[in-house]
Amino acid sequence: MAVSFGIFERLKGKGVAAYKKGDYLTAKTYLVDAAECMVDMAETAKTPEAKRQHEELAAELIDLAKDSDRMHRSGGKGRRPGVARQREREGDSGADVADWIVKDKPTIGFDDIAGLDDVKEDIRLKMIYPFAHPELARQYGISTGGGVLLYGAPGTGKTMIAKAIAHEIEATFFVVSPAQMLSKWVGEAEQNIRKLFEAAKSEPTSVIFLDEIEALVPKRKSDSSTVMQRVVPQILQELEGFDRTGDRALLFVGATNKPWMLDEAILRPGRLDARIYVGLPDAPARFRLLEIYFGGRPLAEDVDFGELCDRLDRYSGADIKNIAHRAAQLPFMEAIAGKDARPISRQDIMTVVEATRPSVNPADLIRYEKFTEGRK
Ligand SMILES: Nc1ncnc2c1ncn2[C@@H]1O[C@H](COP(=O)(O)OP(=O)(O)OP(=O)(O)O)[C@@H](O)[C@H]1O
Ligand SMILES: [Mg+2]
Repeated sequence: MAVSFGIFERLKGKGVAAYKKGDYLTAKTYLVDAAECMVDMAETAKTPEAKRQHEELAAELIDLAKDSDRMHRSGGKGRRPGVARQREREGDSGADVADWIVKDKPTIGFDDIAGLDDVKEDIRLKMIYPFAHPELARQYGISTGGGVLLYGAPGTGKTMIAKAIAHEIEATFFVVSPAQMLSKWVGEAEQNIRKLFEAAKSEPTSVIFLDEIEALVPKRKSDSSTVMQRVVPQILQELEGFDRTGDRALLFVGATNKPWMLDEAILRPGRLDARIYVGLPDAPARFRLLEIYFGGRPLAEDVDFGELCDRLDRYSGADIKNIAHRAAQLPFMEAIAGKDARPISRQDIMTVVEATRPSVNPADLIRYEKFTEGRK
């Protein structure tokens, strides 16, 4: 494992260096080799999680190799459309961070999120009120910015909340996915983390969002790779280096559905010290989710949200969104086949619900509760 990771790092490093120099043909060769190396490692991975991460990394490398090929064929003129657009939007500040982070101004707010009232209030107290009332916050010695960890089952709205926080404080939103980070940053991890934080600090207010943070900051003992050994301390250092009293504010939001896999060090005061559990939707939240995701779709008279709301106990927001989508497909497919267009019926919805189990299993819910208890 250590040996093949070393080889992988070298291949990847050479590929990225060649890409940056504009030597796209060489870049492509190294990147394909590095991707192959990752595929091999995925095949012998010890855990499904490691396998998935290796596969994601391989896919990223293939993307970059394809990009190199395109660039080579077009004589270096064929910038990736996504990157080009991004640069245009930013007025090309020359920041080469645009290649590996997405910079955005999210438009969804807390009102678009069903339920989670206590989570929203917690976030308002810790992050939004201090921004909205800086003078009072200063008087009372309340700090602005800092780090928060959102944890909970998949599909419960963690990513949505992170975006909504940025929207509520009108911050620039920097999203980094660990898979991207690890594939693009091998060999230059520290430097790039510094660049990310610098880019964020150059905005008046910014939110850095690190999704699946456990992939990047895992318990150090459990990961032997050299990248991790360098990345973890660097992130911790940047987190501690926040100036929480100045005019510019930086907020760091990490999200995970495996909080127990995180390196304890990142949970210490001054780092991700606010930890917020994002749970499954309660009955009023499920009602609101039904309104949101069936809203704008034709519904038959026999559809009763109250009844559905009870039936959907233990289903996540993402599950309910998915159910609405699939229920709508039934009359849609019929109409395509030539039948009269009809509204979505109770039967359509029930058919889908019966065929769909809640995606979150009870054993995991118990683990989240235990994690929460253990941290009180
Ligand atoms: N409380 C909610 N209100 C409205 N929509 C929701 C809510 N929870 C989930 N959803 C819907 O489910 C989808 C998945 O939510 P989101 O990506 O925020 O989940 P997540 O907690 O980040 O999941 P993961 O752990 O898999 O990343 C979103 O696109 C959103 O439309
Ligand atoms: Mg998410």
